[in-house]
Amino acid sequence: MTLQTQSIALIGAGGKMGMRISANLQRSSFDVRYCENSPSAQAQVTAAGRELCDSDAAVPDADVVILAVPDIALGAVSGAVVPMMKSGAVLLTLDPAAAYANLLAKREDIHYAVAHPCHPSVFLERYTKEEHADAFGGVAAPQHVAAAFERGSDAQRAALTEVIRVMYAPVEQVHWVTVTQLAYLEPTLVETVACMVGTFMKEALDETVKAVGVPREAAEAMLYGHIQIALAVAFRSTNPFSDACMIAIDYGKETIIKPDWKKIFDQRELDKVIARMLKVDKIERPTETV
Ligand SMILES: NC(=O)c1ccc[n+]([C@@H]2O[C@H](COP(=O)([O-])OP(=O)(O)OC[C@H]3O[C@@H](n4cnc5c(N)ncnc54)[C@H](O)[C@@H]3O)[C@@H](O)[C@H]2O)c1
Repeated sequence: MTLQTQSIALIGAGGKMGMRISANLQRSSFDVRYCENSPSAQAQVTAAGRELCDSDAAVPDADVVILAVPDIALGAVSGAVVPMMKSGAVLLTLDPAAAYANLLAKREDIHYAVAHPCHPSVFLERYTKEEHADAFGGVAAPQHVAAAFERGSDAQRAALTEVIRVMYAPVEQVHWVTVTQLAYLEPTLVETVACMVGTFMKEALDETVKAVGVPREAAEAMLYGHIQIALAVAFRSTNPFSDACMIAIDYGKETIIKPDWKKIFDQRELDKVIARMLKVDKIERPTETV
């Protein structure tokens, strides 16, 4: 992989992530080959003005092969793709689960990387309508990226950073962590906790409307404003919670959260949730990595 010209094979170019990152890669100077095997997704790729390419033709020349396919398919897809890759190339996946679970086909002479978008921060200062509309990131609102690349040189990492910055643009910073740390970021921190709390708040909103009879608009207004202030106080210490609010917070923790909830940071629990997500019986890890 050189620092200037890079050829990229994108497998799964017509999927959700494939379409998002293609829109950015298409505007770059990289030589990108778009591979997709489902007819309806292929139609999306061509409708967006991108030419389809067979993976057999795209992969052998590629410096970076991006696998934008569902995590449960990564074992089989990497099994087909990895033997075709040129020596020294990078296999880039977009989520740590399969890499963590050792499901990717192995070859000693290629490199493995994972890059996951952080999505634009809730604290991001947004100025334009486009920035406000870009909740996912990759369009107008700057975001960070968490990535893992555990072997390989600094030059290769620098080259990979360029690809990641284009795929998820606009990118403020790429944070390099280990695959295991990335797995603790997602699922543990952001899905098991943050997304769970998001859906939990929605259930609490519905219950306030259904069980107590509060008009939905009133409940939504009260909740949405308080989500903003709760995050600002908890994460940014903009001002303290009131004494009465602290009592209500303690009551909520006692009543809702299990005392041993921090076990989610035990690696055996991480293995459990990732096995469940990948629909495999158990995770085969060579060593305890954390
Ligand atoms: N969707 C998200 O919000 C999101 C966010 C961050 C990371 N990711 C990660 O991105 C990856 C892709 O997820 P997605 O949600 O975009 O999946 P998706 O199901 O939307 O798309 C996957 C695409 O891959 C195609 N595909 C499957 N096997 C193929 C093959 N052998 N050759 C060519 N194409 C093939 C499918 O036809 C489909 O179009 C996963 O690793 C996921 O964890 C997803």
